[in-house]
Amino acid sequence: MLPILVTGGCGFIGSNFIRLLLEKDPTTPIINFDALTYAGNLANLHDVAHCPNYRFVRGDIADRDTIRQVVGEGVSAIINFAAESHVDRSIHDSRPFVRTNVLGTQVLLDAAREFGVNRFVQVSTDEVYGSLGPTGAFTEHTPLAPNSPYAASKAAADLLVRSYVQTFGLPAIITRCSNNYGPFQFPEKLIPLFITNLLADRPVPVYGDGRNVRDWIHVRDHCAALALVLERGRPGEVYNIGGRCELANLDLTHTLLDILKKPRSLIRFVPDRPGHDRRYAVDCSKIERELGWRPTIPFPQGLRDTVTWYQEHNDWVAGVRSGDYLNYYRRQYGALAG
Ligand code: NAD
Ligand code: DAU
Repeated sequence: MLPILVTGGCGFIGSNFIRLLLEKDPTTPIINFDALTYAGNLANLHDVAHCPNYRFVRGDIADRDTIRQVVGEGVSAIINFAAESHVDRSIHDSRPFVRTNVLGTQVLLDAAREFGVNRFVQVSTDEVYGSLGPTGAFTEHTPLAPNSPYAASKAAADLLVRSYVQTFGLPAIITRCSNNYGPFQFPEKLIPLFITNLLADRPVPVYGDGRNVRDWIHVRDHCAALALVLERGRPGEVYNIGGRCELANLDLTHTLLDILKKPRSLIRFVPDRPGHDRRYAVDCSKIERELGWRPTIPFPQGLRDTVTWYQEHNDWVAGVRSGDYLNYYRRQYGALAG
């Protein structure tokens, strides 16, 4: 059996996805292709890396020769998680976002086409749709209106995927998911940043008025949806994935403070993110109807479990909260970094 090529498998969602596949069947052939940027961490897969048909290749998806070599050896499918994924970093410098998210996707599409790969799944985001008003939800037909350089680079990649479907008949599928949370998330994103700060009695930086709304989904529910799309999704289609769990940032912050029994005085309102999308909400009825998927992990339970995971993984947190992370933290949060 030819392996599945998973790109970006050492990141947050990619590592949870590989674990999900290997828990189901430890003999599943997988190539994990990852550049190990600041967000990629081999430790995220330490418990499954021994599986007999799992192989790690370090490389950059924008490096055409290496990708041609790996895909040319034969792969049954490609699922592309590899990306620069943090909005705030894209505001500081959008260059790596264009290189990895746009050029890297194009390189993968070319290789998939050249070597006749049977299935290509592009892991995209609801951020390509832009921002919602107080009501309604993104459907697969909502026009693309990205507002951050990150979102624009993901939208560009989505359009490239679409064009390879239309022009070359590539059997590709795009998924667009809402905000993920769960184990192994790099502590630059709201939930792991706030948990790890609070565990150290450090303040938490809430952007603007804290009333921006996100639709939260446990990473395991997202990965289960992706496994179904990989297996049974219809080529050429877009599938929205969401948690049906809308929450304002400030309410989420209060919940985290309550779980960790920390005082509200640790909240710091800091200047807003430029171009900050006000509200996301995902209509995921298409994937529910067509593939029988549903989000299954209730947010209160998933959030408590996530807090416990970070409490129990001090070494992992210490490993990623050093060096480059501290420079990033100082640049992003200034005085708050102390
Ligand atoms: P992440 O930042 O945790 O991981 C990204 C991974 O990609 C890392 O392992 C990194 O080393 C690797 N990578 C980066 N550049 C690379 C390159 N040029 N070549 C090879 N590997 C490279 O990201 P994540 O949160 O796990 O997100 C994974 C995917 O899911 C991304 O495409 C993201 O846009 C999408 N997504 C994320 C969320 C979310 O809430 N985190 C929601 C919807 C969609
Ligand atoms: O919607 C899917 C997207 O979710 C993914 O495509 C992105 O890869 C992922 O990073 C995430 O993007 P967000 O920008 O929504 O996630 P983030 O955790 O950075 O921010 C969540 C909300 O919290 C957002 O409204 C900004 C706010 N925030 C974030 C940080 C880091 C704060 O108030 N303070 C912070 O320090």
